[in-house]
Amino acid sequence: RTLRIGLIPGDGIGKEVIPAGRRVLEALPASLGLKFSFVDLQAGFETFEKTGAALPDKTVEVLKTECDGALFGAVSSPSKAVKGYSSPIVALRKKLDLYANVRPVKTVATDPKAIDMVIVRENTEDLYVKEERTFDSPDGRGKVAEAVKRISERASHRIAAMAGEIAQRRQNVRAAGGASVHAAPMVTITHKSNVLSQTDGLFRATARAALEDPRFRGVAIDEQIVDSMVYKLFRQPEFYDVIVAPNLYGDILSDGAAALVGSLGLVPSANVGEGFAIGEPCHGSAPDIMGQNIANPIATIRSTALMLEFLNEEQAAAKIYAAVDANLEEGKYLSPDLGGKAKTEEVIEDILRRL
Ligand code: NAI
Ligand code: MG
Repeated sequence: RTLRIGLIPGDGIGKEVIPAGRRVLEALPASLGLKFSFVDLQAGFETFEKTGAALPDKTVEVLKTECDGALFGAVSSPSKAVKGYSSPIVALRKKLDLYANVRPVKTVATDPKAIDMVIVRENTEDLYVKEERTFDSPDGRGKVAEAVKRISERASHRIAAMAGEIAQRRQNVRAAGGASVHAAPMVTITHKSNVLSQTDGLFRATARAALEDPRFRGVAIDEQIVDSMVYKLFRQPEFYDVIVAPNLYGDILSDGAAALVGSLGLVPSANVGEGFAIGEPCHGSAPDIMGQNIANPIATIRSTALMLEFLNEEQAAAKIYAAVDANLEEGKYLSPDLGGKAKTEEVIEDILRRL
């Protein structure tokens, strides 16, 4: 099988870490029977300044018509609003219907904290439909702004089903000998239906119904109210296996959970739709360290593995995860964000050797 992968480095350290994803794919053992071809694509603020479009039509077109998956680095957002500029990754998610954002947060085996969770965030609706309006109140409150929070049965169902599938897949990996802190698969449904009984109520009921389907037999269903969940997430992170959440809660929980494992430079994500996945490190363009060859490439390398998982290449993904874990456990080539002295290039080379 040959997979065609779009490479979108974006801005800042995106340019330094995305090549690591490509090199890792090229270093996979031939015995897997996998080949890759690559196409370089543009997006981001620099692209916007050069061409007037943060996400050129050509990028979308090539992804849609030629590619099986993609790697996306990071883009800079200007600190002040710039006319005509809006985030290309948000637009990409929409144009390719990448309805799930998946973020695994995991410590290495030698870490006593033993955190191993995946946050599955709905990516297409909730408050992020961006239907806002501002008006002058008739009753002396001055300006009033409001936003639509939209939750649909279809989106809630498909995101919960994806969470169920991920929980099962993780269980299969454990059964095959992968170490884990979890004895059995569990999905935690996140909501605030005690207050938002209609919107979050619909999400909760639909997610529960989706997970009660016989095909998810064996996957325990847990549910939590988002605020008390944050407390538990920080007090007892080892409790969580798979978390499913509407867009806004998922956005917040996934950045919060990333803080549990030390560095943003370790945390991957994937934007997933039907038969297409974009791997994307969780961090931004990190202008404070760009150009110094010290960015940690691991978030991108893990995002590359995550992309492969969703393209049904789990074996290849497992090899990459294992090489990264071995690099971290040995601790000889760690980048400065992890307390080490290694350059980006040295971390990449160590991981390639292990592959
Ligand atoms: P950031 O994630 O770029 O950086 C936060 C801190 O973490 C910085 O001190 C940075 O040096 C460090 N860091 C991040 N990634 C690292 C890595 N791989 N290795 C070592 N250290 C790393 O977030 P910040 O500073 O808030 O945003 C910078 C720019 O990135 C802004 O323009 C922002 O809009 C954009 N951004 C883009 C994202 C995306 O494309 N998905 C996500 C977050 C921010
Ligand atoms: Mg975020």
